[in-house]
Amino acid sequence: MKIFIDTAETDELKAAFATGLVDGVTTNPSLIAKSGRDFKEVIAAICDMTDGPVSAEVASTDYETMVKEGKVLADIARNVVVKLPLTWDGLKTCQDLTEEGIRTNVTLCFTANQAWLAAKAGATYISPFIGRLDDLGQDGMELIAEIRALYDMHDYETEVLAASIRGVSHVKDAALMGADVATIPPKVFNALLGHPLTDKGLAAFEKDWASTGQSIL
Ligand code: E4P
Repeated sequence: MKIFIDTAETDELKAAFATGLVDGVTTNPSLIAKSGRDFKEVIAAICDMTDGPVSAEVASTDYETMVKEGKVLADIARNVVVKLPLTWDGLKTCQDLTEEGIRTNVTLCFTANQAWLAAKAGATYISPFIGRLDDLGQDGMELIAEIRALYDMHDYETEVLAASIRGVSHVKDAALMGADVATIPPKVFNALLGHPLTDKGLAAFEKDWASTGQSIL
């Protein structure tokens, strides 16, 4: 499963990329607003940090303007993926951009039927929002499983991008359900590694090794 980082904060991205394990980045209008930076500038800065896909979302909701905005965003860098809302206009825009060779991420997916339509529209990625479904008392992970089964059964190439991830269990479960990508907030990404028994075990190995007085180099 590929790892994308869900943030528009370049400092956080710098640290995440330093691990060598990050494949791409997703942003949305809320994350851009939180960064307090100019949208196009911050997308260009992120694209400079990686060759991996960087999702940048259109701001309009009507077909004609979304197509125009999508092209402007795609012109920022060759690794921009245009993020589009899961509406009829969004899907129409998705078809146009796909025909022009522009990659898309269809976002705000909450049902398997929506994911099916996005795949038919040629979406590169579909973003089912796990956490927001869980917030309503529904099972976000069940949606990932349904989309995986549907795409496999009908041979759709659209990648399942598990989004709205709130904790480390979401990451593990998304991987086990067969998501192609998880977009992970920096805090959750950092929490994936730590375990007190790892720290305790390493401290004991260091102590015992020191007691041998040996050196490998
Ligand atoms: C990513 O593409 C989504 O916009 C993001 O994961 C949404 O997460 P949230 O539900 O925590 O805002």
